[in-house]
Formats: sequence, C-alpha cells, structure tokens
Amino acid sequence: MEPQRLGNYRLLSALPTSSVTTRVYLTCLDSNEQSQPAYVTKLMPTGGGETAELLRAQFEHEIKLLRVFNHPNIPSYHADGEENGVRYVVLDRIDGCNLATFLGHDRKQPRALSKEMAVYIMGQLANAVHYCHGFTRIDEHGKEVAAGILHRDLNPQNVLLSRDGDVMLCDFNAAKSPWLQPEHDTVDVGLKAYMAPERIIGSTPATAQSDLFSLAVMLWEILKGQRCFQAENDLKTMDAIVRFDISHSGRRVTGLSTKLSEIVRKNLDRDPGRRYISAFQMLQRLAQAPEAAAAERSRSTLAAQVAEVTKPAS
Ligand SMILES: Nc1ncnc2c1ncn2[C@@H]1O[C@H](COP(=O)(O)OP(=O)(O)O)[C@@H](O)[C@H]1O
Ligand SMILES: [Mg+2]
Repeated sequence: MEPQRLGNYRLLSALPTSSVTTRVYLTCLDSNEQSQPAYVTKLMPTGGGETAELLRAQFEHEIKLLRVFNHPNIPSYHADGEENGVRYVVLDRIDGCNLATFLGHDRKQPRALSKEMAVYIMGQLANAVHYCHGFTRIDEHGKEVAAGILHRDLNPQNVLLSRDGDVMLCDFNAAKSPWLQPEHDTVDVGLKAYMAPERIIGSTPATAQSDLFSLAVMLWEILKGQRCFQAENDLKTMDAIVRFDISHSGRRVTGLSTKLSEIVRKNLDRDPGRRYISAFQMLQRLAQAPEAAAAERSRSTLAAQVAEVTKPAS
C-alpha cells in the first residue's frame, strides 16, 4: 500500500512509468481541498540487492540536481524528504503528456509532425540540454567553474509536452555530473534505442556529442513519423545503431531546408567528432533554419494538439 501523505503533500493517483522501479504520482498540497494536481511526486525505488542500491544512489543524485536547476524547460523542484521510510521528491506537474505518447509510440501508426513543429520542439529541448551542459558552480575559492551535466537518457519518454505548448526535459536519473558523483561514469544507463553508437561500442564514455546524437534520433523520428531504431530486442537495436548510415537513401529525410537537413545529418553521424561541437551550436542552427520562423504559431498548435491527445474521457 502506497503512502497517501508525504510532508505537506497528498498523493492522488499513479502515472504510468516506463520502468518497473519508478513510481510517479499526481500530487496536491495537503491543504488543497479540491485536490488539484499541481505537482508530481517521484518515489525512490525500494527493494534489496545491488541494483536497488545503485538505483537509490542515482535517485539521491537526481534530487541533488533537481534542487539546483533553474530553467524554464526543466520542471521546478518543490520539496524532498523521507517519511516512514519513503524517500521522495516533489516537482511541478507538467499537465500534458510525454513525447512518446504524443508521437503514438504505443500505437501501430506513429505520426510525423510538421517541420516547423519539429524545429520548435527541438529548439526548446536543445535549450534545456545547453543549460545542463553549460552548468557552472562556485568552487571553494569563490570562483565560478564549469560543472557540465550530461543527461545520458534523452528519449521521448523524458520529454514532456504541456497543454500550454511548453516542452520540458525531465528524468535526470541517469545524468552524470563529475563534481557530484565522479564514479557515476561506469553505470550502463539510458534507453538503448536513443544511445549513440560510441556508447554502445563502449569506446568512449558519454559526452556532449552523445547527447546530441540522442536529440537527433528524436528529431529524425518526429520528421519521418517512424522510429529510427526499433527492433525486437536491445541487442538487435544496438546492432542497428552501430550499422546506421544517415547517407543511405532509405534513411535520408527529404523536403527539409538545407539548414534543417544539416542538423539531422551532422548529429546522426557515426563519428562523434563530426557532430556539432555543442548543444549551443545546435540551438543556433535551429534558430537559423527557415522553419523556425513559425515558432510562436507552433507553440499554440502544440498546445491544441496536446489538449486533444490528453482529452479526459467523457
Ligand atoms: N514533472 C512531471 N509532470 C508530469 N509528468 C511527469 C513529470 N515527471 C515525470 N512524469 C511522467 O512520469 C514518467 C516517468 O518519469 P521519469 O522521471 O522519466 O522516471 P523513469 O523514466 O525513471 O521511470 C514520465 O515519462 C512522464 O510521463
Ligand atoms: Mg524516464
């Protein structure tokens, strides 16, 4: 039986999650008599064994990051605590759905979005990723130093779309921040279908360029209306990623502006050295694409489409 109340909050109902270990609940302030779900609460995984220990360490790490983040494309942190042995964190609820649901990953027929919508969603995401990669902190001498954070699990389930047309990046469970947890590097994390080939082969640890590859896989999917890497098991998926060739005729995305075409092509390159040097460069290139001109319109179109997808059953 799950706890009903944690700190000043009341848990209302469970949200579907991709992993069996995570539990996320719609939440309201305990004093809110109308039970409006303005928050979500994420609970720390329970259970014994080495894996559970590791998951708990990752959860603590995620809480530390959420506490210090301050960005319009990342859900705000409200509280964390422990009550009756239940460790939890409370965040802003993004009222909408995740990108996987929006694209119809669970249906037979996924949908493509317009080029303008693709550029809008990717611009918002690249903004959040640029913030993480460029994170700084003040060291013990009072000096501002680089403290870049890699997300390492950029995939459509971790992208939230709101009924206001906001695009938010969530789930920092797999994130790596060398200043907080240097040994975090060895853990095999992230959804395989969005993982860069160099991480699969194991030749290099995660880098900013491996996050860019994951972003580009999402961009490809949004534009094509089909999954880039989908096989019946992880092994086959990983095999498809290491063999992937963006210049192959069946893999190309046609009908794009030169700029947008370059963003897809360069960041899906097998060689991380040929991708953009930073999320900021991707952000700049997206802003220069002619499809970016309709960003504000895309935002309101997205709001309407998310409202349609998440319409409560009548
Ligand atoms: N702040 C939030 N607002 C609304 N829904 C959320 C929020 N955070 C997570 N979710 C939902 O819960 C799902 C799982 O959360 P996530 O943090 O990705 O955990 P995990 O992938 O580790 O199970 C997300 O895919 C999303 O659908
Ligand atoms: Mg997730």
